[in-house]
Amino acid sequence: MDGNLILHNANLFTPVGSEAARGEEMANISHIRDAVIVVENGSIIYAGEKGKTPDVEKGKFTCIDAEGRAVIPGFVDSHTHLIFGGYRPDEFGWRLKGESYMSIMQRGGGIQSTVNATRESTPQQLADKAQWFIDRMSEMGVTTVEAKSGYGLDTANELKMLEAIDILKNREDQKLEIVPTFLGAHAVPKEYKGRTGDYVNLIIKEMIPLVRDKAHFFDIFTEKDVFEIEDSRRLLKAAREAGMELKLHADEIVTLGGAELAAEMKAVSADHLLHVSDEGIRRMAAEGVVATLLPLTAFALREPFAPARKFIESGAAVALATDLNPGSCFSGSIPLTIALACIYMKMTVEETLTALTLNGAAAVGLAGQTGSIEKGKRGDILILEFPELSMLPYYVGMNCVRTTIHKGKVIRHP
Ligand code: NIG
Ligand code: FE
Repeated sequence: MDGNLILHNANLFTPVGSEAARGEEMANISHIRDAVIVVENGSIIYAGEKGKTPDVEKGKFTCIDAEGRAVIPGFVDSHTHLIFGGYRPDEFGWRLKGESYMSIMQRGGGIQSTVNATRESTPQQLADKAQWFIDRMSEMGVTTVEAKSGYGLDTANELKMLEAIDILKNREDQKLEIVPTFLGAHAVPKEYKGRTGDYVNLIIKEMIPLVRDKAHFFDIFTEKDVFEIEDSRRLLKAAREAGMELKLHADEIVTLGGAELAAEMKAVSADHLLHVSDEGIRRMAAEGVVATLLPLTAFALREPFAPARKFIESGAAVALATDLNPGSCFSGSIPLTIALACIYMKMTVEETLTALTLNGAAAVGLAGQTGSIEKGKRGDILILEFPELSMLPYYVGMNCVRTTIHKGKVIRHP
């Protein structure tokens, strides 16, 4: 029966808890050899030693033998721009020749170019295109993904993007859970060029009241020459007053004080943080703002990686995500994210596992529901190809996920 599963012979590795693990807690991974996991109606009812497995009517459960392989929680990709029209390979080529991301944006390309293509797409076309990426993500073990709007940049087209997310969420047999985020403050659209204040007013007066019940989060690109600190603060306050939870693209291109603003606004997460200040790290750690680090973007933009060790040593919670988008980072590769985090950001494999599971779940407000393999959580579970957790970064950029299970349902199994 779908949603009823018994998994035995598992070499179980999981973070533990219903909130983000901070600082050195990130390295705490529970390890149980020869474990059994029982999922009933999509929820885990037992995860532990085989000797204490509860008696259940076996005929009503799908049984899987993990054959001693490593079993870990499903990955949470907590930052993606999964819905978009068109592609931008020409820009990638210009960047390879040395042009900067912001210079392309300032001459009318970048985000605006995807806005033009997105405005020409129907919700169904956007959803069908995104489904292809969802299918690939699920193969790499993603069981929860956050998806942002932000390529509509007017009321009708932002709503259209959220409608596309809704189509995906409601698809029968959807392979993963999708968390919608409103990113109307992604850029100032061309029709408002030079009138940032008017666009900010449009978001506050017209868009927020319409999207507040359709999206879990309000996100903003807080950046020099995009939405600077004062405009960002106004927008974030308005969203918070409307009852939305907050996220920021902060200190991605230059050090602007986005991390400090995230702490001031008690945002759930601040993301990117390639150029975060020491004070920003300290304030985020103090306020419990999750630092969502996106190594694929730094890699694709030839920027320095975010200071993961400084965040962890300051007691902050670090999450890792892909930032899949058609511009700065056209990749949803979880295996490469793991490799970059371990090789260049010097995160341990245990910290990396926590960052992609429990802390990713916390970054989308779902740490009570997923992100670890424990009684009461959703049956979001992966079986790896190998028994050892250490294979994850060692097998650089290659997919080690053999089986993906979402809500106790087997999505992919050889
Ligand atoms: O997270 N920097 C802003 N937003 C995205 C890129 C969006 C795009 O280039 O289309 C990011 O990097
Ligand atoms: Fe992003």
